[in-house]
This record gives sequence, C-alpha cells and structure tokens, in this order.
Amino acid sequence: MDHKLYIETVGCQMNVLDSELVVATLRQQGYTLTRVVGDADTILFNTCSVRQHAEDKVYSALGHLRQLKQKHPDKIIGVIGCMAQKDQQRVFSRAPYVDLVVGPGQLHQIPDLLQRIREGGGPQIQVSLGRQEGSLDVIRRSHESFDPLRDPTMRPTPWQAYLRIQIGCDKFCTYCIVPSVRGPEQGRSPSDILAEARTLADQGCLELTLLGQTVNSYRHRDGDRITSLADLLDALHTIDGIRRIKFVTNYPLDMTDNLLQAVRDLPKCAKYLHVPAQSGSDSVLRRMKRGYSVADYRDMLARIRQAIPHCAVSSDFIVGFCGESDDEFQLTLDLVEHGRFKNSFIFKYSERPGTKGAQLLRDDVPLEVKQRRNQLLLEAQNRISAEENQRLVGTVAEVLVEGPSKTAQERGHEGPILQMTGRTECDRIAVFEGNTRQAGQVLPVAIYDAHPHTLFGTIVTHERGPEVYPLA
Ligand code: 5AD
Ligand code: SF4
Repeated sequence: MDHKLYIETVGCQMNVLDSELVVATLRQQGYTLTRVVGDADTILFNTCSVRQHAEDKVYSALGHLRQLKQKHPDKIIGVIGCMAQKDQQRVFSRAPYVDLVVGPGQLHQIPDLLQRIREGGGPQIQVSLGRQEGSLDVIRRSHESFDPLRDPTMRPTPWQAYLRIQIGCDKFCTYCIVPSVRGPEQGRSPSDILAEARTLADQGCLELTLLGQTVNSYRHRDGDRITSLADLLDALHTIDGIRRIKFVTNYPLDMTDNLLQAVRDLPKCAKYLHVPAQSGSDSVLRRMKRGYSVADYRDMLARIRQAIPHCAVSSDFIVGFCGESDDEFQLTLDLVEHGRFKNSFIFKYSERPGTKGAQLLRDDVPLEVKQRRNQLLLEAQNRISAEENQRLVGTVAEVLVEGPSKTAQERGHEGPILQMTGRTECDRIAVFEGNTRQAGQVLPVAIYDAHPHTLFGTIVTHERGPEVYPLA
C-alpha cells in the first residue's frame, strides 16, 4: 500500500543524516514524502536532547497533533532519535497518542515497527541499552550505526553528502547528554566508509562531510591495523569525483600533527576545522571535565595556524555554565578575541537530567545573566567574523556552488541570471550572480565585499573574450 510520510528533524548534522536515511529506507518500501502534516499517515519527529529547548519544541509540536490523532486514529505518530532514547516510556506518558518510540541506535527497525503497528500490534518502543546496563560489548552492540543505501534524491543537493564515520561518544563532558543517548564511541570500518564514499561519488556527489561526535578521535582497529582519521582522508582523497572533504566535530586534544599535515597536504580537504572550546576559563573547563586547559587549546590553535596558514577555525561556547563568574566569562571573551574564529556557535547552559553536571553542580547562573553573556559573546564574535571576512576582499575563492541563494529563492526563479550561493574552500558562504546550471561546479569567485557571515563576489571567467579584429 502507498503510505505518506511526514518527517520533522531537529538537532545536529547526525540527525539530518539519520532522517535522510530513514526517509530513503521507507521510500524503498513504497512511502512517499509529503510536506503537509495533514496529508501524512505516518508522522515522525527526529529529535534532539542536547538542550531543553529542543525537547520543548517537539513536545509542543506533539501537543498540536492530539486532535488530529483523535480524528484519525489510524495515523501513526513516531518519536525517534536522541529524545526517544532519553525519555523512552516517558514519551508515551507525556503524549499518550504516540505510537512509536525509537532511539538513534535502533533506526533500522523502523520499517518493521511501523508494520507491526499497522497490523494492530499497538505502540512500539525500541531503544538501546544505557551506559550502565551491561558489559561494554553488549552496550556497544545495542547501538547500531544506521547506514543503509544512499538515495541522492533525499539530500538538499545531490553533490553534497554527510558520511558517518563514527557513532557515540566517550568523553563524558559534565554538561552533555550525548554519551548516554548515542552510546559508546565506535568507528565504522574503513572499508564500509570507503564503499559508501564511492557510491556517493558515483551518484555525482562532490563534497563529503564526515560526521562523528569527536570525529578526529576516529580509530578503527582490525587485527594489528589501526586506521586514524588522517589515514581515512588519504584513502577518501583517491576517489574520483570527490572534490572536497570536510569533517565535524573535532575534539581539541585529538588534533594531532599528523591530521593537520593531512589537511594541509591533501588538496581536496577543506581548510576549515570546527573545534569547540566551550569556555576560555580553566576552572570552568575543569568543571565541564573537558580534559584540557586554555593553554592546551591555544597551543592547538597555534599548531593549526602554523601548519595551515589560512585555515578557518570555528568553535562552540557554552555561557552560564554552573558557577560561571563574571571573571570566568571574561576569559571566554578573551579566548574569542584571541582565537579569531570564522564563527562560533554560542549556547546558554541547559541542565540535562542524568548528566554529571545535573548530579553534582548547581545550574546557578540566572537566565538574564546567561542571556547577557550570550549577547556579549555574539557581538564580539560577529565583529571578528566581519573583520576576518573583510580580509578576503580582493582575493579569488574556489566556490562549490550549491544553488540559488535564499534571496533568489524568495524572489522566485525568474530570468536567466540570479543570485547563487556556495561555499569557499575554508567553508565561508559566498554569493554571486550566476545561473542554475552552475550548481554543483567549483568556480573561481572574486570577492568584492564582505558581511560577517557572507562574502559577495563575481565569477572569474577564464575564457578569453572573442577575438576582435579591426574592420578592414
Ligand atoms: N547546554 C548548552 N549547550 C550544550 N551543548 C552541549 N550540551 C549542552 C548543554 N547541556 C553545546 C556544546 C556542543 C554543542 C553541540 O552544543 O557547545 O559543542
Ligand atoms: Fe542533539 Fe546531540 Fe543527539 Fe545530535 S547527537 S541530535 S546534538 S543530542
């Protein structure tokens, strides 16, 4: 039978990839995708637990579906991903009309579970084991990487793709829910990763973004052979068709010289590293159990810039973490000034039940203070982003063209020339006048203006102009 699927995704790139794969799998089973929730017979929310706000959004969206479900009891409502793993049965207690709860390590079961519900089997739940619920090996096996066949039509553009190389996380920062919902860190096998990369290249994909919670900690052991991220980059680099390779998110202490050399020496590697610092204060970093000092982070920045002079670096910061004083916050501002980041993602601390932070520390910074610090840090970062972008005015960037810009899309596709958008080699957004046929090409763009988060340019044409002869 023909089913109609509606899916909403919140959270990180990992979730975006998971949704792409869930949709691709269900499409193979005859589902078609709809953007209108009322048209769907299967409604899925792929959820995030990293901050309270992300959870509130989903529970409120579920609340809006209560009446729909009353009127149409046959419609299946599912909650999948990190919040499903964290809240488990509690999803059913908070929204009793939900039919399906599936954690991120069990996504492969979705088609069967939907089938069971349709056959009258009642609500279904599949989650992985918690970090204390068995031996490491058993827990590991209960978190399965979900990497079925790729379907290029499911991606925003066919020439860009996420590629998972690692699942889970073992760092246990005190604020973070990820190690408990996504389970132990596990590297996928290099042969699986390479095979998937080749499939993606065959499908016309030009840009790979390798995903892992601490992607540069990637390790895979096969007998005596250990593969690192640098080794993987070497291997991926040989795949014809792939023009650009990025990887997120990095952990500062695992930024080895070996990896930096690979990024420097492999022309397809974007000269861009996202390495969250989280705070510029040693005492806060200790309370966060990040495992490094500000000096370590600065040393890492110096090594990056020494190895790859024009490398763009971006970061994440949490403001208002437990006990953060004005002086400690000032040190974060200092690190932002020093770091000259391309951009930073700034978050107000949100206490997550079950983390060490929630158990041992008090979430005692008032919301107004968190908000003010967020604002101050954002202002500092925006000024720096603008200054750093300004330095690129007058240069020529290699831009991988993604498609019409938001402005062009809002105006509607009219006329042959429109504003196109793409990313430079160091991951900056560049817009320029062009046409839709350029999408998926890597083009030289001369930058003539810059805003904090956008470069403006014109395409440099290499063709010689028509030869002009004097009239006889
Ligand atoms: N509260 C606020 N921000 C958080 N992050 C992770 N956990 C929390 C939390 N409990 C931020 C970190 C991380 C990013 C993905 O989200 O900065 O790098
Ligand atoms: Fe959110 Fe973390 Fe899960 Fe990604 S891995 S969806 S950021 S909780």
